[in-house]
Amino acid sequence: MTQKVAVLGTGKIGEALLSGMIRAGWAPGSLLVTARRPERAEELRTRYGVTPVGNDEAAKTADTLILTVKPQDMAALLDELAPHTPADRLIVSGAAGIPTSFFEERLAPGTPVVRVMTNTPALVDEAMSVISAGTHATSEHLAHAEEIFGAVGKTLRVPETQQDACTALSGSGPAYFFYLVEAMTDAGILLGLPRDKAHDLIVQSAIGAATMLRDSGEHPVKLRENVTSPAGTTISAIRELENHGVRAALIAALEAARDRSRELASGNNS
Ligand SMILES: NC(=O)c1ccc[n+]([C@@H]2O[C@H](COP(=O)([O-])OP(=O)(O)OC[C@H]3O[C@@H](n4cnc5c(N)ncnc54)[C@H](OP(=O)(O)O)[C@@H]3O)[C@@H](O)[C@H]2O)c1
Repeated sequence: MTQKVAVLGTGKIGEALLSGMIRAGWAPGSLLVTARRPERAEELRTRYGVTPVGNDEAAKTADTLILTVKPQDMAALLDELAPHTPADRLIVSGAAGIPTSFFEERLAPGTPVVRVMTNTPALVDEAMSVISAGTHATSEHLAHAEEIFGAVGKTLRVPETQQDACTALSGSGPAYFFYLVEAMTDAGILLGLPRDKAHDLIVQSAIGAATMLRDSGEHPVKLRENVTSPAGTTISAIRELENHGVRAALIAALEAARDRSRELASGNNS
């Protein structure tokens, strides 16, 4: 942790990462941040005691550059960074859908690049971050990226070829659960419950189920069978889920998300 780390483009994800790193023990004095607007830079200095700098200075000073601008702002940021970034800097990209080759083509030959796809639960230290090495990134570089993103949740190394599938599962994953909670809350209202009560019942059931899935080590089928008694209420509901093709819909939905991630990665933003 003696290395200097800079977060470039410190918005929602960048700030979540920054605050997680400080809670995990990084000294604010070893952290640099960049922001497009001066008032945002000052806000970060006041809130965390970190040092705001320009993108060029971050590139010259920090050993690791974590790039958390939006994908559409990445090319402009790299144009700015390229003249100031020595090839020994570790580039960690948090931008969805941008391949490591995009960075390698725009930075000095041999620059190590690590690509990370995190998700919004980074805001509550429960992220799932999927980490892949570019051509020149070593196992130590991956370990360093894991240490950084480990501050806001779990990490998993995958080959870059699996990033689009991971985007479909964990990158977009929280949205599917929000959608399920929304639909189940509507069902509660249909059954005569007030919205706030239905919401609380479903959210706590989701937290309980997620905790059991994580902590019990049991297969989800086993956990579901444990609460599916003969001729009971749960099996009546499961039959309806199967009748309506919910399992097939989920498989098709994730396949569509994977395909869209591929399209975006190949530059098709339409
Ligand atoms: N939010 C998510 O759900 C999520 C999940 C997984 C991954 N990601 C990835 O995380 C990245 C950041 O997303 P976000 O939601 O945190 O976006 P965000 O809140 O818009 O943060 C990006 C920040 O970068 C700043 N910026 C843009 N160009 C800059 C430049 N040249 N120099 C310095 N700062 C610059 C922006 O400034 P302004 O405020 O002036 O625009 C903004 O504050 C994206 O690439 C996204 O793909 C996001």
